[in-house]
Amino acid sequence: MNTNSKPLNAYGELAGDIREILITSEQIQERIQQIGALISVDYAGKTPILIGVLKGVLFFMADLLRTLTIHVEVDFLAVSSYTPSTRDQGLVRLIKDLDISIENRHVLFVEDIVDTGLTLNYLMRNLRARQPASLEACVLFNKPENRLIHLPLKYVGFDLPNRFIVGYGLDHRERFRNLPFIGLLKPDAL
Ligand code: PRP
Repeated sequence: MNTNSKPLNAYGELAGDIREILITSEQIQERIQQIGALISVDYAGKTPILIGVLKGVLFFMADLLRTLTIHVEVDFLAVSSYTPSTRDQGLVRLIKDLDISIENRHVLFVEDIVDTGLTLNYLMRNLRARQPASLEACVLFNKPENRLIHLPLKYVGFDLPNRFIVGYGLDHRERFRNLPFIGLLKPDAL
Protein backbone atom coordinates (compact mmCIF):
# COMPACT_ATOMS: atom_id res chain seq x y z
CA MET A 1 0.00 0.00 0.00
CA ASN A 2 1.29 3.45 -0.83
CA THR A 3 1.03 5.52 2.32
CA ASN A 4 3.59 8.06 1.13
CA SER A 5 2.39 11.62 1.06
CA LYS A 6 3.46 11.69 -2.58
CA PRO A 7 1.81 9.30 -5.02
CA LEU A 8 4.10 6.85 -6.80
CA ASN A 9 3.59 8.60 -10.12
CA ALA A 10 5.37 11.64 -8.64
CA TYR A 11 8.59 9.66 -9.02
CA GLY A 12 8.61 9.91 -12.79
CA GLU A 13 10.46 7.18 -14.65
CA LEU A 14 11.37 5.45 -11.38
CA ALA A 15 7.72 4.82 -10.55
CA GLY A 16 7.24 2.26 -13.31
CA ASP A 17 9.78 -0.06 -11.69
CA ILE A 18 8.32 0.02 -8.16
CA ARG A 19 5.86 -2.66 -7.10
CA GLU A 20 5.19 -1.45 -3.58
CA ILE A 21 6.37 1.05 -1.00
CA LEU A 22 7.33 -0.83 2.17
CA ILE A 23 8.51 2.07 4.34
CA THR A 24 7.54 5.61 3.51
CA SER A 25 9.87 8.56 3.55
CA GLU A 26 7.93 9.97 6.51
CA GLN A 27 8.31 6.74 8.50
CA ILE A 28 12.06 6.71 7.82
CA GLN A 29 12.50 10.32 8.90
CA GLU A 30 10.41 9.84 12.05
CA ARG A 31 12.48 6.81 13.09
CA ILE A 32 15.74 8.63 12.41
CA GLN A 33 14.57 11.49 14.63
CA GLN A 34 13.96 9.00 17.44
CA ILE A 35 17.37 7.36 17.02
CA GLY A 36 19.06 10.75 16.82
CA ALA A 37 17.43 11.80 20.09
CA LEU A 38 18.75 8.66 21.80
CA ILE A 39 22.26 9.18 20.43
CA SER A 40 22.23 12.83 21.52
CA VAL A 41 21.50 11.71 25.09
CA ASP A 42 23.84 8.70 25.15
CA TYR A 43 26.82 10.57 23.70
CA ALA A 44 26.35 13.99 25.31
CA GLY A 45 29.74 15.49 26.14
CA LYS A 46 31.64 12.72 24.28
CA THR A 47 32.00 14.18 20.76
CA PRO A 48 31.69 10.80 19.01
CA ILE A 49 32.99 10.02 15.55
CA LEU A 50 30.29 8.64 13.28
CA ILE A 51 31.75 6.32 10.67
CA GLY A 52 29.87 5.14 7.60
CA VAL A 53 30.66 2.82 4.70
CA LEU A 54 30.01 4.20 1.23
CA LYS A 55 27.84 4.27 -0.67
CA GLY A 56 24.54 3.04 0.74
CA VAL A 57 24.85 4.94 4.02
CA LEU A 58 24.96 8.33 2.31
CA PHE A 59 21.34 9.33 2.98
CA PHE A 60 21.06 7.81 6.45
CA MET A 61 24.26 9.47 7.59
CA ALA A 62 23.21 12.84 6.22
CA ASP A 63 19.76 12.71 7.81
CA LEU A 64 20.95 11.23 11.11
CA LEU A 65 23.66 13.87 11.51
CA ARG A 66 21.11 16.63 11.13
CA THR A 67 19.00 15.27 13.98
CA LEU A 68 21.90 15.31 16.47
CA THR A 69 22.16 18.08 19.04
CA ILE A 70 25.69 17.22 20.23
CA HIS A 71 29.17 17.80 18.81
CA VAL A 72 30.14 15.01 16.41
CA GLU A 73 32.73 14.29 13.77
CA VAL A 74 32.10 12.18 10.69
CA ASP A 75 34.27 9.99 8.51
CA PHE A 76 33.80 7.34 5.83
CA LEU A 77 35.24 4.05 4.71
CA ALA A 78 34.84 2.53 1.28
CA VAL A 79 35.15 -1.19 0.70
CA SER A 80 35.24 -3.46 -2.28
CA SER A 81 34.63 -7.20 -2.48
CA TYR A 82 37.44 -9.24 -3.98
CA THR A 83 35.10 -11.77 -5.60
CA PRO A 84 31.55 -12.91 -4.81
CA SER A 85 32.98 -15.96 -3.00
CA THR A 86 35.34 -13.97 -0.78
CA ARG A 87 32.46 -11.59 -0.13
CA ASP A 88 30.51 -14.60 1.14
CA GLN A 89 33.30 -15.19 3.62
CA GLY A 90 33.09 -11.60 4.77
CA LEU A 91 36.42 -10.62 3.27
CA VAL A 92 36.36 -7.10 1.93
CA ARG A 93 39.14 -4.81 0.82
CA LEU A 94 39.35 -1.26 2.18
CA ILE A 95 39.61 1.09 -0.77
CA LYS A 96 39.22 4.28 1.27
CA ASP A 97 40.45 4.44 4.84
CA LEU A 98 39.49 6.90 7.56
CA ASP A 99 40.96 10.40 7.59
CA ILE A 100 40.58 10.75 11.37
CA SER A 101 42.37 8.71 14.04
CA ILE A 102 39.83 6.93 16.25
CA GLU A 103 42.23 5.88 19.01
CA ASN A 104 40.69 6.71 22.41
CA ARG A 105 37.63 8.20 20.69
CA HIS A 106 34.00 7.17 21.01
CA VAL A 107 33.01 5.63 17.69
CA LEU A 108 29.53 4.97 16.36
CA PHE A 109 29.58 2.82 13.25
CA VAL A 110 26.61 3.73 11.05
CA GLU A 111 25.25 1.24 8.49
CA ASP A 112 22.32 1.45 6.13
CA ILE A 113 21.63 -2.29 6.17
CA VAL A 114 22.83 -5.43 7.90
CA ASP A 115 21.98 -8.71 6.25
CA THR A 116 24.43 -11.58 6.80
CA GLY A 117 26.42 -9.43 9.22
CA LEU A 118 29.67 -10.35 7.48
CA THR A 119 30.55 -6.81 6.40
CA LEU A 120 29.70 -5.38 9.81
CA ASN A 121 31.75 -8.06 11.54
CA TYR A 122 34.79 -7.42 9.37
CA LEU A 123 34.62 -3.67 9.76
CA MET A 124 33.91 -3.69 13.50
CA ARG A 125 36.98 -5.90 13.99
CA ASN A 126 39.03 -3.56 11.84
CA LEU A 127 37.85 -0.53 13.83
CA ARG A 128 38.25 -2.25 17.22
CA ALA A 129 41.91 -2.95 16.40
CA ARG A 130 42.48 0.82 16.31
CA GLN A 131 41.61 1.00 20.00
CA PRO A 132 38.68 3.40 20.19
CA ALA A 133 37.40 4.34 23.65
CA SER A 134 34.08 2.71 22.68
CA LEU A 135 32.59 1.18 19.55
CA GLU A 136 28.90 0.64 18.86
CA ALA A 137 26.76 0.02 15.78
CA CYS A 138 23.76 1.96 14.51
CA VAL A 139 21.82 0.28 11.70
CA LEU A 140 18.80 1.63 9.90
CA PHE A 141 17.56 -1.54 8.20
CA ASN A 142 18.11 -4.90 9.87
CA LYS A 143 17.38 -8.13 7.99
CA PRO A 144 17.88 -10.76 10.71
CA GLU A 145 16.75 -13.84 8.74
CA ASN A 146 20.02 -14.26 6.81
CA ARG A 147 22.30 -13.43 9.71
CA LEU A 148 25.46 -15.55 9.82
CA ILE A 149 27.28 -13.58 12.49
CA HIS A 150 25.42 -12.08 15.41
CA LEU A 151 26.75 -8.77 16.64
CA PRO A 152 25.13 -6.43 19.13
CA LEU A 153 23.41 -3.49 17.43
CA LYS A 154 22.97 -0.57 19.80
CA TYR A 155 20.51 1.31 17.59
CA VAL A 156 18.21 -0.31 14.99
CA GLY A 157 15.74 1.54 12.81
CA PHE A 158 13.59 -1.19 11.29
CA ASP A 159 13.60 -5.00 11.37
CA LEU A 160 12.73 -6.20 7.89
CA PRO A 161 11.84 -9.55 6.30
CA ASN A 162 14.22 -11.13 3.83
CA ARG A 163 13.07 -9.32 0.71
CA PHE A 164 15.10 -7.44 -1.86
CA ILE A 165 14.56 -3.76 -1.16
CA VAL A 166 15.71 -0.58 -2.85
CA GLY A 167 15.69 3.12 -2.07
CA TYR A 168 17.04 5.46 0.58
CA GLY A 169 20.60 4.54 -0.43
CA LEU A 170 19.98 0.89 -1.25
CA ASP A 171 20.58 0.01 -4.87
CA HIS A 172 19.86 -2.50 -7.58
CA ARG A 173 22.84 -2.42 -9.95
CA GLU A 174 23.65 1.08 -8.64
CA ARG A 175 20.20 2.45 -9.44
CA PHE A 176 17.25 3.39 -7.19
CA ARG A 177 19.42 4.80 -4.36
CA ASN A 178 17.72 8.15 -4.89
CA LEU A 179 14.22 7.00 -3.93
CA PRO A 180 13.32 8.62 -0.58
CA PHE A 181 11.36 5.53 0.53
CA ILE A 182 12.04 1.78 0.78
CA GLY A 183 10.35 -0.12 -2.01
CA LEU A 184 10.07 -3.45 -3.74
CA LEU A 185 10.91 -3.68 -7.40
CA LYS A 186 8.62 -5.15 -10.02
CA PRO A 187 9.93 -8.52 -11.24
CA ASP A 188 10.80 -7.14 -14.68
CA ALA A 189 13.00 -4.43 -13.09
CA LEU A 190 15.18 -7.07 -11.42
C1 PRP B 1 25.54 -3.17 1.87
C2 PRP B 1 25.55 -2.46 3.22
C3 PRP B 1 26.54 -3.27 4.01
C4 PRP B 1 26.39 -4.66 3.43
C5 PRP B 1 25.58 -5.49 4.37
O1 PRP B 1 26.56 -2.69 1.08
O2 PRP B 1 25.93 -1.11 3.11
O3 PRP B 1 27.84 -2.76 3.87
O4 PRP B 1 25.72 -4.55 2.18
O5 PRP B 1 25.49 -6.83 3.93
P1 PRP B 1 25.96 -8.04 4.83
O6 PRP B 1 25.40 -7.86 6.19
O7 PRP B 1 25.37 -9.25 4.12
O8 PRP B 1 27.47 -8.08 4.84
P2 PRP B 1 26.69 -3.00 -0.49
O9 PRP B 1 27.68 -4.10 -0.69
O10 PRP B 1 25.34 -3.21 -1.08
O11 PRP B 1 27.39 -1.69 -1.06
P3 PRP B 1 26.80 -0.20 -1.23
O12 PRP B 1 26.68 0.38 0.17
O13 PRP B 1 27.81 0.54 -2.03
O14 PRP B 1 25.46 -0.31 -1.90
